Amino acid sequence: MKFFVDTAEIDQIKELNDLGMVDGVTTNPSLIAKSGRDITEVTREICGIVSGPVSAEVVALDAETMIEQGRKLASIADNIAVKVPLTWDGLKACKVLSGEGKMVNVTLCFTANQALLAAKAGATFISPFIGRLDDLNMDGLELIEDIRTIYDNYGFETQILAASIRSANHMSECAKIGADVATAPASVIKAMANHVLTDKGLDQFMKDAAKAGIKI
Ligand code: G3P
Repeated sequence: MKFFVDTAEIDQIKELNDLGMVDGVTTNPSLIAKSGRDITEVTREICGIVSGPVSAEVVALDAETMIEQGRKLASIADNIAVKVPLTWDGLKACKVLSGEGKMVNVTLCFTANQALLAAKAGATFISPFIGRLDDLNMDGLELIEDIRTIYDNYGFETQILAASIRSANHMSECAKIGADVATAPASVIKAMANHVLTDKGLDQFMKDAAKAGIKI
């Protein structure tokens, strides 16, 4: 499973990228706003750090403007994936932009039917939001499973990019289901390394080493 980091914070991207944990980056208007930076400038900087796909999202509701913005975003760097919302206009924009050879990430997906439409419109990535479904007492992981089944049934090449990931458990469950990509905040990716028994065992090893005077 590829890891994308869901942030526009340069320091976080660099730290994880240096460790080989970043196969790509996803941003959205909320994350760009949080960074406090100009979208073109910060996106260009991210594209210079990461060689994999960097999602940059349009901010429009009609297909024509989405296409215009998508072309501008794609001109920032070769590794831009234009992010469009899963609306009828977003699907139209997806069809046009993917037809021009641009990577397109269709976002805000909450049903298997939406994912099916995105695949037919030529999306490179579909982004189902797990956490936001869980927030409504629905099952976000079940949606990932359903999309996996549908895409495999028909051989769709659209990659399932599990998004709105809130926990390390979401990461391992997505990997078990066979999501192609999971995008998560840096804090979640780092939390995957944690286990209480690792901490406990290490504490004991360090105490025993000190007691025995082990020096290396
Ligand atoms: O990739 C989409 C993601 O940023 C949404 O996450 O936590 O705001 O639901 P969240």
